[in-house]
Amino acid sequence: MQTVRDIEALRQAVADLRAAGGPIALVPTMGALHAGHMALVAEARRRASHVVASIFVNPMQFAANEDLSTYPRREAGDAKMLDEEGCALLWAPDVGAMYPAGFASAVRVGGVGEGLDGAARPGHFEGVATVVLKLLNQVRPDVALFGEKDYQQLAVIRRMVRDLDLAVEIVGVPTQRDADGLALSSRNAYLTDEERRAARALPRALGEAAGAIRAGGAVAPALAAAVDKLAKAGFDPIDYVELRDAETLAPLDALDRPARLLAAARIGRTRLIDNLPVAPA
Ligand code: PAJ
Repeated sequence: MQTVRDIEALRQAVADLRAAGGPIALVPTMGALHAGHMALVAEARRRASHVVASIFVNPMQFAANEDLSTYPRREAGDAKMLDEEGCALLWAPDVGAMYPAGFASAVRVGGVGEGLDGAARPGHFEGVATVVLKLLNQVRPDVALFGEKDYQQLAVIRRMVRDLDLAVEIVGVPTQRDADGLALSSRNAYLTDEERRAARALPRALGEAAGAIRAGGAVAPALAAAVDKLAKAGFDPIDYVELRDAETLAPLDALDRPARLLAAARIGRTRLIDNLPVAPA
């Protein structure tokens, strides 16, 4: 696997892959890779002849009070994992290569990008959409893969690709979880042992609420019960536990179409998010 750090070298390396023939897949990441990221790479290999991964901890999607400076960085280990999983190319620009002096543009996705994390983290999805558009333009892949773990992010990217007529197929990959149900996340590394044990309550509370709603239970009490379980497990604050239309992310107060149950809450200093599908019977 080749690693490139400037646009010129990237263009050349991608041209070489194009010349070799067959579709190219892009897997954008911020590094500190785990089995969730690797599931994206494995799916990318099934769908394309060449897989390009990117590692870039994107300052534009972190607010001033967030964890940009402490975000885990371990590129050497990440590169080894990507190589072993069959990646052809690692695009690992530094901040100056991604945002040259004078950089002044941004992509704002309304609708699906508003509410939930869009409300809890002002500016976050603008940073995500901008960097993902740049990555798509830099690599020009045929297909790009994103995890359902970040369900609203996936919806924002799908919306942007449709709205801006980007010629790329967006593929969502199901959430990979630890044995106790906690969704894999680079941020799980922040959890103390005690917080890690308590964090199981997040997938559990969502699973129970999803089960109750699927079984015909009223939505509001099921969501309230989930909030209560999270609070009892030590989550504080609980940013949201909500049932949304699976595609538009419009709020739902009854299960009359395919839906998604989404939650975000903090345990100690770590903010965790998770979501589950809820299909009407
Ligand atoms: P990062 O958090 O590194 O995640 C990179 C990709 O891996 C995202 O598409 C995310 O949804 C997916 N992913 C993370 N954990 C997963 C899990 N447990 N199961 C399945 N997929 C998982 O998301 C970002 O980086 C950034 O916002 C990025 C899109 C790279 C833009 O900067």
